[in-house]
Amino acid sequence: MPNLKKGEIKTFRIEDLAHGGDGVARAENGMAVFISLTLPGDLVKAKITKIKKDYAFARLIEVIEAGAGRTKAPCPVYNECGGCQLQHINYQKELEFKQNNIKQLINRIAEIEDFKLNDVLAAADDFRYRNKAQFPLKMDEDEQITAGFYKRGSHDIVPNHNCLIQHPLINRILRITLEELNKFQLSVYDENSLQGLLRHLVIRVGSCTNQALLVMVTNGDDFIDKNLIARTLIRKIPELKGVVQNINTQNTNVIFGKEDILLAGENKITEYIGSTAYLISARSFFQVNTMQAKKLYDTAAEYIGDDNSARVVDAFSGTGSIALYLADKVEKVYAVESLKSAVKDARANAKLNNINNVDFELGLVEDKLPEIIERDQIDSIIFDPPRKGLDEKTIQLLLENEIKKIIYISCNPATQARDLKSLKEKYRLLEIQPVDLFPQTYHIESVALLELKN
Ligand SMILES: C[S@@+](CC[C@H](N)C(=O)[O-])C[C@H]1O[C@@H](n2cnc3c(N)ncnc32)[C@H](O)[C@@H]1O
Repeated sequence: MPNLKKGEIKTFRIEDLAHGGDGVARAENGMAVFISLTLPGDLVKAKITKIKKDYAFARLIEVIEAGAGRTKAPCPVYNECGGCQLQHINYQKELEFKQNNIKQLINRIAEIEDFKLNDVLAAADDFRYRNKAQFPLKMDEDEQITAGFYKRGSHDIVPNHNCLIQHPLINRILRITLEELNKFQLSVYDENSLQGLLRHLVIRVGSCTNQALLVMVTNGDDFIDKNLIARTLIRKIPELKGVVQNINTQNTNVIFGKEDILLAGENKITEYIGSTAYLISARSFFQVNTMQAKKLYDTAAEYIGDDNSARVVDAFSGTGSIALYLADKVEKVYAVESLKSAVKDARANAKLNNINNVDFELGLVEDKLPEIIERDQIDSIIFDPPRKGLDEKTIQLLLENEIKKIIYISCNPATQARDLKSLKEKYRLLEIQPVDLFPQTYHIESVALLELKN
């Protein structure tokens, strides 16, 4: 069979959708070819752009025949922007792909066949859902400051002042802020020369409260008109509760630096999940889709069950959102988190909600969990780890102890599947409930319920 050559244009039938959202075709020599902006069933013309040992990448040139579920992406910059991967697929099909992806990973990686996989809990609105946007900035051809998102696979900025997955208030604040900033002679940070002042605009909104917070991330403090700009923005945008400057002088892709300066208004907004109130500051972690976060936490609550005497651990608790949401349904929650500022936010939010039965423990799950299990009789543990999943020490701890119920929330079904494989000798996977917090992107949250085997 002929080998692929870089630059050649070929016709491919898309067979599958990879976890990252690319369509997958097979070349004549059997090699997998990844083509973004395609979906299963598509017949496409594509140009080979990169060839690796076992797979290749190609760029879509033309859709000859459309697969079932193909739709016209509503965003005018969708083909370039790296923010969304699935706008060319209708939402029903997107949900099917996401569910199927989880099934395949659990079957293939965890080697588990016998479990209940529920339909994905879909978002009521698959656009306008994000409560937080982080916009990198650049100068356009007219020397105006503009904002957008990085292009697929690069750090070039695709300007976008009306991102369709953002809450509309975020887009309005962005446009007014750019208009104000452009009245002053301000420079924009350049990643190559490391020169220039303005790095990012971060906008957070409370979907339930319509309050907003703007953070201007700057390279240093040389920002003379900052208070005037901040006061003007608060005057022009009634929903804007505060403007914060964050200083980041490091040569890094990490958006925030360590120092926050309040320029005008307040440095926090309020948001609700159900009846639990949360104060959110510039750098606090909070789920980006408030409405779907409620479904995620309701799933965890349902899996915990209605035993009011349950003693539960919320491991990797962030700002304690799950622990606080569950507090009135159980007797005791231990929340474990390694980030000091998140634990501080969590304690403040417990006070705000008059919650007294949650202990917030600052430290690593791998260190704190053995101590908690040793000193208390724990019924259930909820894990919500970062993308890399659970560490070996925690897996061993679970295998050596008898925890009645484990609820494993994951934003990376591949590492979740790996961990379920390790846990299966002692814990049975009963059910998985996927929850779509990130429509139009390949991301998905997957909640697994495991019970101790007899
Ligand atoms: C996915 S977030 C949790 C989100 C939270 N459950 C919520 O719904 O808002 C994962 C959290 O784990 C924390 N973390 C990462 N590694 C950790 C470790 N080894 N021990 C404790 N916390 C850790 C991170 O700081 C982050 O807050």
